[in-house]
Amino acid sequence: MNTLEHKVALITGATSGIGRAAALLFAGEGARVIVNGRRADELAQLVADIEAHGGRAVALPGDVREESIAAELVSLARERFGRLDIAVNNAGSMGEMLPVPELSRESWQDTIDANLTGTFLGAKYQLPALAERGGALIVTSSFVGHTVGMPGTAAYAASKAGLIGLVQTIAAEWGAKGIRANAILPGGTDTPANVANAPGADAGVRGFVEGLHALKRMAAPEEIARAMLFLASDAASFVTGSAFLVDGGVSISRT
Ligand SMILES: NC(=O)c1ccc[n+]([C@@H]2O[C@H](COP(=O)([O-])OP(=O)(O)OC[C@H]3O[C@@H](n4cnc5c(N)ncnc54)[C@H](OP(=O)(O)O)[C@@H]3O)[C@@H](O)[C@H]2O)c1
Repeated sequence: MNTLEHKVALITGATSGIGRAAALLFAGEGARVIVNGRRADELAQLVADIEAHGGRAVALPGDVREESIAAELVSLARERFGRLDIAVNNAGSMGEMLPVPELSRESWQDTIDANLTGTFLGAKYQLPALAERGGALIVTSSFVGHTVGMPGTAAYAASKAGLIGLVQTIAAEWGAKGIRANAILPGGTDTPANVANAPGADAGVRGFVEGLHALKRMAAPEEIARAMLFLASDAASFVTGSAFLVDGGVSISRT
């Protein structure tokens, strides 16, 4: 039997990178998936790719900073698939990278809203639905802001650290209802969001990022998705409230 047979999973930030890989993996493992991101065309393509492999998916484009989107995603899960078992709050971005004195309040707020407030709003609507049968809530945090301080990442690091506090609270608040809540902390992952793939980044940037990791490479998005699958599955039945590093050793490497 597939790992997520009969499960319904909601995944935000699924138009590219880690979230897209997770949606494909979860669907391949039998889950019916609800996918979100702002880019409607990429979402439609993802749904088509999942259906081409015999899976079931439905998309709702929108910005996770909007409370109405958080509510609609859960309503869609109920309407189309009758339940919600897994919520992966993965949408996020680095935001503007500047030293603290040069970062505007608006820029700070924008990153906090997308990465932290968006997940809070998601959880607000997901938790009552997950509590009906017990379930798993996952948030995508980062090693940045937890084990590593990185210049120019103030708002990003604060938002990602904030997610760990949020998930610990959810785990304590909802554990008795059978909900497990965990933060996954990817290391450098080869997606459009990584500085190694930023416009103008050359081989030197990529080599620098890779060299920060004990494994001397970045993750493929599928490697992070597999760790999400573990956290979402019954294999992680006693794992809750964790800050789960899947970081290729970037947190411990000093060479
Ligand atoms: N790549 C890394 O090295 C790395 C390391 C640690 C943690 N992370 C985290 O991993 C998560 C996934 O990032 P990724 O690396 O896979 O990058 P990515 O390929 O750029 O994916 C980011 C996803 O988030 C969505 N998104 C961003 N802001 C959104 C918003 N306001 N509303 C709805 N969707 C939004 C994007 O979709 P749209 O643009 O279509 O809205 C996209 O699907 C992020 O939370 C990121 O911070 C990444």
